[in-house]
Amino acid sequence: MSFEITPTVKGEHVDFKNPDPAFYEAIGGEEGMRKLMYNFYDKIYESDIANFFPQDEEEFAEIKEKNTKFFIQICGGPKVYKGESGGMELNEYMVRLHDEFSITEKSRIEWLGTMREALEELEGVDRALTEDFWNYLEHFSKLTVNTFSDGSKYYANL
Ligand code: HEM
Repeated sequence: MSFEITPTVKGEHVDFKNPDPAFYEAIGGEEGMRKLMYNFYDKIYESDIANFFPQDEEEFAEIKEKNTKFFIQICGGPKVYKGESGGMELNEYMVRLHDEFSITEKSRIEWLGTMREALEELEGVDRALTEDFWNYLEHFSKLTVNTFSDGSKYYANL
C-alpha cells in the first residue's frame, strides 16, 4: 500500500473529506474499529511520541476508548462520541483539542507512521476503502500541527 504522506504547509488551507462509511462496515463496525484503534494506541505507547500521552495506565486506557469512540462516529457509525464534543462539530472540536499539545510535523509523521503499521495489519479489508480512510487521516492531521521548525506557533482553522 502506498499510504503517502505530504508535508504540512503553515497557514495553508487543508481540504479533507470524512471517511467513507463503507470502511467502517468493512472492518466490522464498532468491534473492528475498537480492535484497530487499540492496536494503534498500543503501538503509540511504544513510539517516539509516547511522551505526549499519559503514562498512567488508567488514564491511557481512557484516552484509548475515547479515541475509539471518536473514530466510530467520524466513520459513520453510531454517535457514541457526541457527548464529549459539547455540541461542537466533531472535526472542529478535534482540532481545538490538540491545541494544548505542541505538535510538530515530526510528531505528525510518527503518528501517521504508527497508524500505517496498524492499517497494514488489517486483514481482508478492501484496499481502496483503507486508502480512503488514510486520506482523511493524512489531510486532517495537518490541522493538528501547531508548532513549526522556526519555533513559531500557528493554530489552524477548518
Ligand atoms: C488525523 C489526526 C488525528 C486525529 C483524528 C486524532 C484524534 C484524537 C482523539 C480522538 C483523541 C482523544 C480525544 C479525547 O480525549 O476525547 C486524541 C487525543 C490526543 N492526540 Fe490526537 N489525533 C490526531 C493526530 C494527532 C497527532 C499528529 C498527535 C501528535 C502527537 C496527537 C496527539 C494527541 C494527544 C497528545 C492526545 C491526548 C492525550 C491526553 O489527553 O492526554 N494526535 N487524538
